[in-house]
Amino acid sequence: MLIIRDLEASINEKDILHKISLQLPKGQITALMGPNGSGKSTLARIIMGDPEVQVTGGQLLFNGTNLLDLEADDRARLGIFMAFQYPQEVAGVQLFQFLKVAYEARFGCQINLIDFKKIVSQALKTLNLEENFVKRPLNVGFSGGEKKKCEIFQLLVLKPELAILDETDSGLDIDSLRIVAEGIRQAKETNPEMSILVITHYERILNYLKPDRIIIMHNGRILKEGSDLLLSEILEYGYANIINAGN
Ligand SMILES: Nc1ncnc2c1ncn2[C@@H]1O[C@H](COP(=O)(O)OP(=O)(O)OP(=O)(O)O)[C@@H](O)[C@H]1O
Ligand SMILES: [Mg+2]
Repeated sequence: MLIIRDLEASINEKDILHKISLQLPKGQITALMGPNGSGKSTLARIIMGDPEVQVTGGQLLFNGTNLLDLEADDRARLGIFMAFQYPQEVAGVQLFQFLKVAYEARFGCQINLIDFKKIVSQALKTLNLEENFVKRPLNVGFSGGEKKKCEIFQLLVLKPELAILDETDSGLDIDSLRIVAEGIRQAKETNPEMSILVITHYERILNYLKPDRIIIMHNGRILKEGSDLLLSEILEYGYANIINAGN
């Protein structure tokens, strides 16, 4: 369970987040929505431990551990995973090798090649990806959709306790979106205690994932929390109603 309490943050001296309080309970899917620039990715980056974002106040606790004391690598080892809005290309690092190192760090043990290949093959099959996919350098030359699938591929292999998916559904064709959503659903099914924070602008992925609740951010603050009724309201009227009611 992740507890965020009165979190304040800035980037390059500019205040971005103001008194964010939020809990991500085990086994729950939380959708985080809000207009462009409202601070969704910044919140995700703080949870992951991005040093570019300065936390200026508040608390961040994961199963009782103070995350603010830990580097990004240590947070990943605790089982926190993030699928990035803009996955980076890493030349010279083969996806398979990268993931094997990440897997061994995550579970604190060596895994033999045959066992690891089995896990990888299963995940590739789930996402309709060819075996050769893992032989390529990480994200280099991947299409936009392939980069997003690669993030979910890592999710399936690393089995995190908390997964943050930052606009994983953006730029996917209809079939890829269904496959990616199915991959997320499957990861959750094999690991029911996993908590998922889905950052998105679209209802389609939420129709597949059926979040337990929806949270709306605006101007670095949490504006409203609700069920899928809130989603219907946004789809019909945009964010204006909610923003006006909150001001
Ligand atoms: N490196 C930076 N320097 C200055 N401002 C930044 C930096 N990174 C983010 N910001 C600002 O922080 C605010 C929140 O950005 P963030 O990326 O968290 O928004 P978002 O809700 O994820 O938006 P989107 O829906 O477009 O992805 C924006 O106003 C953005 O310009
Ligand atoms: Mg963003």
